[in-house]
Formats: sequence, structure tokens, C-alpha cells
Amino acid sequence: MKLIYFFCIFLTFSYWSLAQETTDGLYQVDLTYRNISTKYCYALALIKTQLLDNIISGLTSSITDITSDLGINNLLSKRAGSSQAIGAVNYANDVEWISQISMGTPQQSSLVVLDTGSADLWIPCIDCYNCKNKRLYDYTQSSTIQYNGDDFSITYADGSSSKGWMEMDTLQVGYMTIQDQQFAMVYDMSKAFQTDVIDGVVGCGYDSLSVYSGTQTPLTNMYNQGLIPQRIFSVQLRPARNKTTYGGIFIFGGIDSRLYTGSITYTPVTYKYFWQIGIDAVLYNGNNVFTSSRNKQQVIIDTATALLIVGTNVARTLHSNMRGKYDSSSQTWQVPCNLNSNVQVSIKINGVTLQINYQDLVRERVSSLSSWCYSGIASTDSSIWIFGGTFMKNYYVIFDRERDRVGFATPVYAY
Ligand SMILES: *[C@@H]1O[C@H](CO)[C@@H](O)[C@H](O)[C@H]1NC(C)=O
Ligand SMILES: *[C@@H]1O[C@H](CO)[C@@H](O)[C@H](O)[C@H]1NC(C)=O
Repeated sequence: MKLIYFFCIFLTFSYWSLAQETTDGLYQVDLTYRNISTKYCYALALIKTQLLDNIISGLTSSITDITSDLGINNLLSKRAGSSQAIGAVNYANDVEWISQISMGTPQQSSLVVLDTGSADLWIPCIDCYNCKNKRLYDYTQSSTIQYNGDDFSITYADGSSSKGWMEMDTLQVGYMTIQDQQFAMVYDMSKAFQTDVIDGVVGCGYDSLSVYSGTQTPLTNMYNQGLIPQRIFSVQLRPARNKTTYGGIFIFGGIDSRLYTGSITYTPVTYKYFWQIGIDAVLYNGNNVFTSSRNKQQVIIDTATALLIVGTNVARTLHSNMRGKYDSSSQTWQVPCNLNSNVQVSIKINGVTLQINYQDLVRERVSSLSSWCYSGIASTDSSIWIFGGTFMKNYYVIFDRERDRVGFATPVYAY
């Protein structure tokens, strides 16, 4: 797919150790200190969804008519404390949000992306031949592993991939101990993962999205094993510019009322596979530059994509309004680094206009002396768009499998 673009940045980067602390029964996870100094090439769009074009052909006909379901509900009000909060580290200025999980007994930790755009869990194992600088899961040390050995192979939308074997073991997420979690022990990963700072991926999509059929995602297992009260998780991907203690927060089991203000705008999941919803419109400075037809424009809400990825025509219109441009030699959309702070790009969802902070539309400078910056918006020829960090950073996002809907609320960084 054309929508990916690559850039290289030189990073000296430290993970902050997150203090283990309890606030009203909510827990944060220790993120082990890790110091990285590396020339690091990165797929800016980092799309860890599966090969969309392969999937879409089988899907679009099944997209159901969207019923209006605007719910306003603070689902945790009576159950505060029963959910589990997991901290994330904001990596490389909003490129990815990284969390820690542990596998096996005794626990062996991995750094992962909690990815709403896929539904398989994999971590590299000691048999990996190209996993330099990764934490490798040593299955010989786990007393709880249950071997299966079926082949596992996944390819994401950016072309990155991994291969391994399916097994089962005890998974630790925060203070939750999940028994019999299916996962892949990976022995081969593509270049993009070799140079990526994460070890593996935890899919948080619908179980049906798993490439290894019959897999139950950690969320399903948490619920079935009584560890969380509801099949709901909620996410704050926080922008680096806010300099918050936690780069991001994932709450498993519900909604933390301290993390948002105002009401929640819900919209139904249109196809229970990805976290896929329909949008009404895209607006520039209050005017529609795109309006959905009766079959609403489909988008995927993806925690593992950095950018807002829209259709090429919409990207062209937005960038021309922002006095941006498409640079065909690098195949990237660019905006003036001094983008006017009055610029308002927003998305209408279920009748509500959700705005994107103009600062999220301007990313890294194209080169040190250039007045052009990479845009927070990219384009795709695919019929399904992807809303990643550029959009998600502006909201507390609720992924609700009890009522199959996604909610958006104004975030509060309460902790
Ligand atoms: C981390 O890296 C920085 C820059 O290279 C260095 O100054 C610092 O001492 C390192 N910290 C640790 C704990 O290794
Ligand atoms: C994040 O920082 C911006 C200033 O850059 C501020 O306006 C905004 O309120 C902050 N967001 C939250 C949720 O605190």
C-alpha cells in the first residue's frame, strides 16, 4: 500500500520506570527501564492492521446498515475499582504507545503494542534467528506452557509480518493473571519489526479477526475468567506535548470516570472484526469537505497507527486548505511547520463534531532546515480509512464489546 512512508530519526531515548501505585483500586504497571540509542528507521504510519485490501473484498457487502445508537453512559459509575489500568509509554513523539506484559511462570516480560487493529498475540522466542535486541521468551523456563505447535503467520497492512508457533501459557497483564492464553512464539520477524522497539503485539480487535482461528484475545479471556466485569476497554493515547506521567492509559474492564469530562459520543461497530465504525463527515474550518452517503464511510479505530489515514481525495482537499502539499518523490503529505493555529480539522461521528488539535496535524520537520513538516494526515486508496494517533490523541476512546460500539469523550489526564 502506498500510504506508508518511512523516515529515519536519530533517537536517544529512555523509558521511564513507572512507579507501581494504587489509586482507588486502579493499578499501573511497572515498565522496566530501558535505554535505547540507535539510528532508528520507522514506518511513520505504522499500520499494524492486517492487509486491508485482502480482507475488504470479503467485507464491504456485509456492512450492515447503521442504526443510530447514541448512548450516554458512565458504565463504571457503580463498579469503580474493578477495572485495571495499564500504563503505556509514548514512544518517539507519538509514533507508538508501548506497554508491558509478561508470559509464563515465572513471568517473562515483553514490550508490546496493544493493537486494536489486529487480534493475535505474539512475542519472539529463543528460537528466533533474526530478533536482535528483543526480549526472547524462553519456553523451556515456563512451567505452565502448553504446547500446540501449529504454524502461525501474520502480515499487517504495512507489509510487516511475523511467523511462529501457536502455544498457550499464563499471561500477566497488569495485576491480572490470565490462564491458558493462546499466543504465538515467533521465530521470524520482518525487517520493520526487527528495527521496531517493541518485542511483540497484543491484538485487541474482535476474536474473529485472529489469523489463527478460534483464538480468544486477552480481553475475552479476562472476562471469561472473571478478571474484569465487562468486555470493555478504554484508551487514552496521550500526546507527548502534554508531558504526562503516563504516555498513555489502557483500562481493561470499563471506563474510568476520572479520565473524561462531558458526555461520551457512541457509535455502533459496523462490522465486528476490526473496531470499525461509520463516520458522517470530515470538516475543515467548520465546512464539510467530505460527506458520507447513506452507507457511511467506514473507518477503523487503530491504536497502532500513528496517523489519520483518509481517502486520497479528502487528503488532497484538506492539504490544499492547509497550504500543504504532496511530495511525490518521498510519497508523503506535508504541511507548513508553522501551520496556523486556527486550522480546524474535525470528524463528524453520529451527529457530533469531534475536533483534532491543529498541533496533531504537524509532525516531524522534513529536514532540519526545511519549513515543511510531515503531515499528521496520510492517504489511502483503500475503501476503509484508518484513524490512528492523530485522531485518537484528542479523545478518551471506549471500545465496548458488550454493546458493540465505540465511544469518544474529551480526555482528562487525572493520573
Ligand atoms: C541512557 O542514555 C543516555 C544517553 O546516551 C546516557 O547519558 C545515560 O547515562 C543512559 N542511562 C542509562 C541508565 O544507561
Ligand atoms: C494538553 O495540553 C494542551 C496544551 O498543549 C492543553 O490545552 C490540553 O488541555 C491538555 N490536555 C489535557 C487533557 O489535559
